[in-house]
Amino acid sequence: MRDHPHSNLPGEPAMMGIMADDARPRILSGMQPTQDSLHLGNYLGAMTQWVALQNDYDAFYMLADLHALTVNPEPAALRERTRRTAAQYLAGGLDPDRATLFAQSHVAAHAELAWVLSCHTGYGEAGRMTQFKDKSAKRGGDGPSVGLFTYPVLMAADILLYDAALVPVGEDQRQHLELTRDLAERLNARFGPDTVVVPSPHIVRSIAKIYDLQNPTAKMSKSEASAKGTIWLLKDPQRAAKAVKSAVTDDGAEILFDPVAKPGVSNLLSIYAALTQRSMEDVVAEFEGRQYGHLKVALADVVVDVLIPFQEKVNTFLADPAELDAILARGAERAREVADQTLTRVYDRVGLLPPARSAWS
Ligand code: TYM
Repeated sequence: MRDHPHSNLPGEPAMMGIMADDARPRILSGMQPTQDSLHLGNYLGAMTQWVALQNDYDAFYMLADLHALTVNPEPAALRERTRRTAAQYLAGGLDPDRATLFAQSHVAAHAELAWVLSCHTGYGEAGRMTQFKDKSAKRGGDGPSVGLFTYPVLMAADILLYDAALVPVGEDQRQHLELTRDLAERLNARFGPDTVVVPSPHIVRSIAKIYDLQNPTAKMSKSEASAKGTIWLLKDPQRAAKAVKSAVTDDGAEILFDPVAKPGVSNLLSIYAALTQRSMEDVVAEFEGRQYGHLKVALADVVVDVLIPFQEKVNTFLADPAELDAILARGAERAREVADQTLTRVYDRVGLLPPARSAWS
């Protein structure tokens, strides 16, 4: 039986916030295992930040497998994609000895806190989420599910359970983060100022939105993926190189960073600067007086140089699924310790009756 979140009774010291053995401030983030591969937007917008933050923060990085259920995946595909996403986390540089890597569904408190939060979320408030509006507009059949509607509430639960101070994400998650903050402030106003921690988004402007190579005003996306506009981390690197070389560029010939006048070229420059870890000024200077084709060839080479070793590492991790599962099991254990304490605190604050200790011993 898992530890029930009500296992500390009223009168016992409140188990708040940071664990005694790790005084670093907390962060939490996650990705949905909805495809066989992550794409370059996930890699640059999120993963590189996660890696950069894992030393200075007590980081919780989850596989958002419950969120992935909103697209109704085939069961076998979901399991496979969840492991593949975990392997990509590791190949990208996340270190299970420094950060807690886990699957959302392994920590029951996520769904439990989401219920409490859903009782404090306005119907209209949830309906205003642009991702919900976009995704539901594209749903055929019976239309959007209730799960798609409450998706951001589950996301708020993910974050609040870990008392996360920061949430490293791409630009597309900003509105969900605002909802999370509103919910946190609402709970604190109603049930006491230290009920939950109000998180801040961590969005690094230069890489917060990587655009589709064929449609450089739309974000590169797992769900909207245009065949030639998306760079998948686990597909043939030569195909990625081709996609870069056939990227849509802009009128004129000069290589300038100007996202409004030159969205295509600016997207390529952003990717190039991020992958080579150089400043935009430096990169623009390199291509001064040269043509779009030069930038495309240089970027294609860099992309191939990143993808080949990345894929080799992913394959090594995928070759040992038992080890992957063991890493996730260890992560879930640590995540449960933290999440269950928060859930206990919130259940207590909202007035739920603790079960008798004997019921759980
Ligand atoms: P997901 O799986 O869509 O994306 C994972 C991360 O990648 C970022 N991202 C991008 N960044 C830059 N350019 C792009 N084109 C691009 N596309 C995606 C996303 O912003 C995200 O950071 N709802 C979340 C998953 C989630 C979550 C959470 C995140 C569930 N619970 C709690 C943070 C905290 C999502 O769908 O991400």
